[in-house]
Amino acid sequence: MDERPLADSYGRVIRKVRVSVTDRCNFRCVYCMPSTPLWMPRNRILTFEEITRVVRILTRMGVVKVRLTGGEPLVRKGVEELVRGLSSISGVEQLAMTTNGFFLTEKASALKGAGLMAVTVSLPSLDRKRFERITGVDGLDRVLRGVDAALDEGFDPVKVNATIVRGLNDDEIIALAEYGAEKGIFVRFIEFMPFDSRGLWKPEFLVSWKDMLSKVKERFELMPLPREPGSTSLNYAFKDGGGVGFIASMTAPFCDDCERIRLTADGRLVPCMFGKLEFDMKPLLRGGAGDEELVSFIRTAVEKKERGVKYLLEKGEIPRHVRPMYTLGG
Ligand code: 5AD
Ligand code: SF4
Repeated sequence: MDERPLADSYGRVIRKVRVSVTDRCNFRCVYCMPSTPLWMPRNRILTFEEITRVVRILTRMGVVKVRLTGGEPLVRKGVEELVRGLSSISGVEQLAMTTNGFFLTEKASALKGAGLMAVTVSLPSLDRKRFERITGVDGLDRVLRGVDAALDEGFDPVKVNATIVRGLNDDEIIALAEYGAEKGIFVRFIEFMPFDSRGLWKPEFLVSWKDMLSKVKERFELMPLPREPGSTSLNYAFKDGGGVGFIASMTAPFCDDCERIRLTADGRLVPCMFGKLEFDMKPLLRGGAGDEELVSFIRTAVEKKERGVKYLLEKGEIPRHVRPMYTLGG
């Protein structure tokens, strides 16, 4: 088998894959979901065997980090079985999940037992009423308990993600940072991206990472951490554990050392989240293709990976609504 590292035409080597295991979600976050989503038909969603096969092939091509996303990954029935299968692939060095946390209390132990290593919980507000207004679900307490359950199980790291939208939750930046300090974990603030399904995104709603950083600095002394190559966030540690990170996808995107590709729940390989290109693997997967065929399909797709949002923004383009976030899992 052709096991050369997987690289694109700009020389970027792919080492991470984000796998959306379902487009379904029990939340309706305003910056993500339409109020009445149209779900993908179930027969189009990849089976656990199909996902595991793709990931196994990717690891032979140099991918070492796998993150499961959704929709909400924990609404996919038996997802811990998928975790078990993926964690037993020898090339998988890190296996993580991004979840809304609602089902985490019940699932944390099974996920840990199945080999999941790290968990990121989305937490857009610490105010119960506002949390409900943002997500459509009165679930703040459950999500907070989910974070605690993840910590108790020993997931490492446990992180919290908060998408910040001006006028919606930007007044909670300090409170969210304080929550991180109290728990000794990293809270990452995500710039609002124009991938919401309701078309609400406007430049005025974007709070830049620099503005968010200034806010946190009003309250905390921060130690900047060196940026890991390929990392999506700029990180700062607190003195006594935990810290903050900023995912500056709109004002300081790191496209030049991007090492990530995405797989949608229905089997499309998306080389760049902001790009239009996607490559449907399902016909091959369901048409009896051998591993070699999949390898060359993946290589061709990755060679076409777009240069990135950084270059769209430099040209003054706003990459609107290429595909909604819930079909890609962030
Ligand atoms: N902009 C930025 N982040 C978003 N997310 C969902 N929609 C958007 C958007 N339009 C984030 C969620 C979650 C992650 C999976 O994606 O907050 O943390
Ligand atoms: Fe669901 Fe996450 Fe989208 Fe919220 S952001 S609707 S939790 S997929």
